[in-house]
Amino acid sequence: MKRAAVIGLGDISFIHLGAIERNEHIELTAVCDIDEAVCGRAPAGVAFYTDYAEMLAREQLDCVHVCLPHYLHYPVSRDAVLAGVNVFCEKPLAVSAEEAAAFVSLERDHPEVRIGIDLQNRLNESTEELKRIIDAGERGCVVGIRGSVPWYRPESYYTTKPWRGAWATAGSGTMMNQSIHTLDLLQFLAGPVVRLRGSMSQLCGYDIEVEDTVICSLEFASGVRGLFEATNANFKNESVQISVELEGGMFIIHDNRLFEVVDGTEVPLVEDAKFTGEKFYYGASSEKLIAKFYRALEGENVPYVHASDAEASIHLIEAIKESSTFGRAVEVR
Ligand SMILES: NC(=O)c1ccc[n+]([C@@H]2O[C@H](COP(=O)([O-])OP(=O)(O)OC[C@H]3O[C@@H](n4cnc5c(N)ncnc54)[C@H](O)[C@@H]3O)[C@@H](O)[C@H]2O)c1
Repeated sequence: MKRAAVIGLGDISFIHLGAIERNEHIELTAVCDIDEAVCGRAPAGVAFYTDYAEMLAREQLDCVHVCLPHYLHYPVSRDAVLAGVNVFCEKPLAVSAEEAAAFVSLERDHPEVRIGIDLQNRLNESTEELKRIIDAGERGCVVGIRGSVPWYRPESYYTTKPWRGAWATAGSGTMMNQSIHTLDLLQFLAGPVVRLRGSMSQLCGYDIEVEDTVICSLEFASGVRGLFEATNANFKNESVQISVELEGGMFIIHDNRLFEVVDGTEVPLVEDAKFTGEKFYYGASSEKLIAKFYRALEGENVPYVHASDAEASIHLIEAIKESSTFGRAVEVR
C-alpha cells in the first residue's frame, strides 16, 4: 500500500482523488491547498495542510500528486523529490524550456524516486492502436499528420482562476493548458519536430495576456509535414481530431475513436474509455496512467510518461512562441 497526498484541490484534483480512491494499492494520507475553503473536497479523516513543505516534513508519504498552477509544477516537485518522495505531476512539465530541462535533470539525478507526468492521452486506446499500427510499419511510413483542438472557454474560466491568463503563471494559454496533449501526440506518433512556423493570437477578446488560438506548420525529422491548430474561441467544445496519413492508409482519431478511412468511409477500429457530462473532453486515461505509475513504484517494469518524455511538448510551445513573435520559421531544440 502506497501513501499518497494531493497538492492543489482545484478542478483537476477530482480526477486524482477518484483514481486514488478506486485503487486498492493507494491510501490517501493527506491533501494540501493554500485555500482552506476547499478542505472539504478530500474525504473525511484525511489530513489537510495549507503548506506543502510542512506536509512533506510531517507525513510519511510515498507519492505526491501535483495538481497546481503551471508555474508551481517544477519547484513543488523538486521539493518533494529532495524529500525523497515520488511525484505524479499534472501537465505541462514546466513553463519554460529552461525549467523543463531542470525537471529532466531532477529525474536523471534522483533515480531513487520516480517522476510521472499526466500526459494521459498517450494511453487512450485509440492512440495506443494507432501508435501500434505506425510502429509496426504495416501500412508504411507516415506521410502527413494534422492535430486540431476546437475548444471553448468562457471568460469566467480565466477570471475565476487568474493564473490561467498570465504568462508568468501559466506559461502560455491554449498550448500549455488545453492542446498540449495534442502537441504531445503529434510527436509521439510522427517523431520529433525539427522546424516550425507558428502564429498565436487572441480571438476571444478577453482581458488576458496569453494566446487563446494558435496555428502552426510543422516539419518533422523524417521530412514529413504536419499542421497543428488549437483554439479556445470556438462556440463550444468539439472533439479533438488527429489525422494521420500513412503510405498505405488514412487514419483519424475523433470523438474518442480511431477510424480507418476506406473508400471515403470512416470505419471504426477502436473506442476509448471516456468521460460523460460537462467535462467530457478531458482525456479519461489519467486513472490508467496513475495505476501504471504506482505499479512502477512497486518495482514492476511498467511504462509511464517520464519527465523526459514530456519535455518535447515544452520545446514545441517555446518554438511556436518564438516563431509567432518574430514572424519566421524556427528550429526546434
Ligand atoms: N491532464 C489533464 O487533462 C488536465 C485537465 C485539467 C487541468 N489539468 C492541469 O491541472 C493543473 C491544475 O489545474 P486546475 O484547473 O485544477 O487549477 P485550479 O486553479 O482549479 O486548482 C489549483 C489549486 O491549487 C491551489 N494552490 C495554488 N497554489 C498553491 C500552493 N502553493 N500550495 C497548495 N495549493 C495551491 C489553488 O488554491 C487551487 O485550489 C494544471 O496544471 C492544469 O494544466 C490537467
